[in-house]
Amino acid sequence: MASGPLILAVDQGTSSTKALLVDGRGAVVARGAAPLTESHPRPGWVEQSPDELWESVRRAVAACVDPALAGRVAGVAFSTQRESLVLWERHTGRPVRPLVSWQDQRTAADCAELAAEGAGDLVRAVSGMPLDPMFSALKGRWLLDACDPDRRRSLAGELCLGTVDSWLLSRFGGEHVVEVGNASRTQLMDVSTGGWDERLLALFGIPRSVLPRIVPSCGPFPAARGLPPLPDGVPVLAVLGDSHAAMFAHCGWRPGVVKVTYGTGSSVMSIATPSRFPDPEPDRDARQDADGAAGPGRGAGQDAGGTAGLCRSVAWDVGDGPVPAAEGNIRATGRTLTWLAELFRTTSDALLAELDASPDGAPEGVRFVPAFGGLGAPWWEPEAEALVTGLTLGTGRPQLVAAALEAVAFQVEDVVEAVERVSGPVEVLLADGGLTRSDRMMRLQADLSGRTVARSGEHDLSCLGAACAAGLAAGLWTRAGLEERRPPADTFRPATASADRDARRAAWRAAVSRSLPSPA
Ligand code: G3P
Repeated sequence: MASGPLILAVDQGTSSTKALLVDGRGAVVARGAAPLTESHPRPGWVEQSPDELWESVRRAVAACVDPALAGRVAGVAFSTQRESLVLWERHTGRPVRPLVSWQDQRTAADCAELAAEGAGDLVRAVSGMPLDPMFSALKGRWLLDACDPDRRRSLAGELCLGTVDSWLLSRFGGEHVVEVGNASRTQLMDVSTGGWDERLLALFGIPRSVLPRIVPSCGPFPAARGLPPLPDGVPVLAVLGDSHAAMFAHCGWRPGVVKVTYGTGSSVMSIATPSRFPDPEPDRDARQDADGAAGPGRGAGQDAGGTAGLCRSVAWDVGDGPVPAAEGNIRATGRTLTWLAELFRTTSDALLAELDASPDGAPEGVRFVPAFGGLGAPWWEPEAEALVTGLTLGTGRPQLVAAALEAVAFQVEDVVEAVERVSGPVEVLLADGGLTRSDRMMRLQADLSGRTVARSGEHDLSCLGAACAAGLAAGLWTRAGLEERRPPADTFRPATASADRDARRAAWRAAVSRSLPSPA
């Protein structure tokens, strides 16, 4: 380990919190993690305990940092799950309700109502995102309606509404703040000005008084406190949304470089030039293909209208202004496998090992559309229903797991095609996240996408990305230095004939068409 200052990076995700200690050369010198639970009090609802989130951060830090090294930590960095919302009391710091997760679908009917009233165009144009229950705005309205229906406490300044970064920073005291990339995913921010938008606040019934001040990704943030063995007062140097942080660690600083994070869901992201920002309309061409169960997906440039079903957001602002990003979010990728694991009372790793041991690991005609909470990009169809087709009496666990992995790869490729239509040809996918541990998943993605997949040598890439941004802010390294030291990737090249790929994608699209609601 190099002597000198260290950066402590914490990634607060949906299923766990991870911590990394990074030295001045950018090498990871220690790790810690703490698992998390979620609850589903009603169908479609997904909640977490804000206190458990904070405790998991403390446990991950304690597991990562040797007390003998604590004095060398020069700065702390956070990457966080996005869109999830917490409501707490300003003076006591106590959460008023459980966190409403980004996965939560309780606001689906409200979305449909607002869409029917014609609010979709304004929301898309200003926030950069389609009306969808994944985003925070309607979760905020739901929380306030439940706890402060007349908004009296909100207007009196008694309540704070915040994303997970905001909630964790509030544990350190000081001003109520949110990092700009996280703010851009709330659907309350004007993505072109970087400020809260009065029209959106009025539409969603959120008083400005409950919202944090939006700050750049390098702060200023309140200094860290209550994270033993760290001494109180270590500065927080950077905060990024988790998906954005992974992009940062891939050094994805230029348009056309595309990363895929395989988490609970997946995020396919590329930096965008403002003039080529996509319009986040549902991908009508893709839907048409699915409705018609057409064969191969389209190539680049076939959508002259640019309606690619992608979101516009702010990737980060690390001192040189907000950087725009184009992103497609898939609701269930890793979650598809964990759902199967829960069903079979085993673990995702055991299912993958079983598949590796089965004769050919093929789905044998089984197709799985994991629309557990509807479909995200490029479909944006909250009413889509999860389904499995092609079952026979010979179908067993390996076929279902193989179909689940194919569903991950097909969903990713559907979004990559959309990104390609706004960013130009995409030859390489930069991959990170839990499922990248599976060689089979990486080979499958390369085969079904017909593109090279470069798997990052670091699994906890969101955490590392936050550390990279913090070290940049602290002057520990430069962008050129980060590019040189990027974790080495191993590559997977497509080995499937394009006719086979096309046939498999046609079958996928036929299954998607059955999952979508019939046109009215
Ligand atoms: O947009 C939701 C995303 O930020 C959650 O990420 O890693 O917790 O699945 P993760």
